Amino acid sequence: MKLTIAIDGPAAAGKGTISRAVAAHFGLAHLDTGLLYRAVGARVAEGMEPLEAAQTLSEADLARSDLRSAAAGRAASEVAALPEVRAALVDFQRAFAARAGGAVLDGRDIGTVICPDADVKLFVTASAEVRAHRRWLELRAAEPDLREADVLAELRARDERDSQRSTAPLRPAEDAVTLDTSKLSIEEAVAQAVELVRRAVAGRE
Ligand code: DC
Repeated sequence: MKLTIAIDGPAAAGKGTISRAVAAHFGLAHLDTGLLYRAVGARVAEGMEPLEAAQTLSEADLARSDLRSAAAGRAASEVAALPEVRAALVDFQRAFAARAGGAVLDGRDIGTVICPDADVKLFVTASAEVRAHRRWLELRAAEPDLREADVLAELRARDERDSQRSTAPLRPAEDAVTLDTSKLSIEEAVAQAVELVRRAVAGRE
């Protein structure tokens, strides 16, 4: 059976880690769609027009080492609000989702827009404070002056922008199962996600 799994949620809720682990567990390819928006945002920050940046995105752009920074996240969230940028990235994501071996895609609109027919949809979330703490721990090696309060403020601004935009806003699909990771370790969150997918797949058979 070809399996398509959609995993959405706000920044730093754990969906990247969960998606990679679920993909490895079920032997599926994985696409972090946030990386597409981060790469477009980075090119726009260098002066390129947003639509051109999205239309001419290459593997090399996705392999840039600066896409994980807080600045790249902000730039990504800004270009992600542009309908023409989103439209330019749809085909690539759907082609990835349709690959023969099945796939896990994580992002903001996978279950609602990109793969509305996904076999399993998870909405991975956590409180803003927990997410900010995690993101701060992740970023502080590269950005030692970063303050946790600033990460929280930035994250709230990003949540607001991602969920209030008119095109493909961040929200759970009606048929998504919500997984709140606020009080879970990474191992517990991954185990629960694998179990949810296993049950959803068993229910279909
Ligand atoms: O998941 P991330 O933090 O790497 O995503 C960066 C930004 O990209 C996020 O603030 C919103 C945008 N994004 C989106 O709009 N749709 C997606 N499917 C993935 C990311």
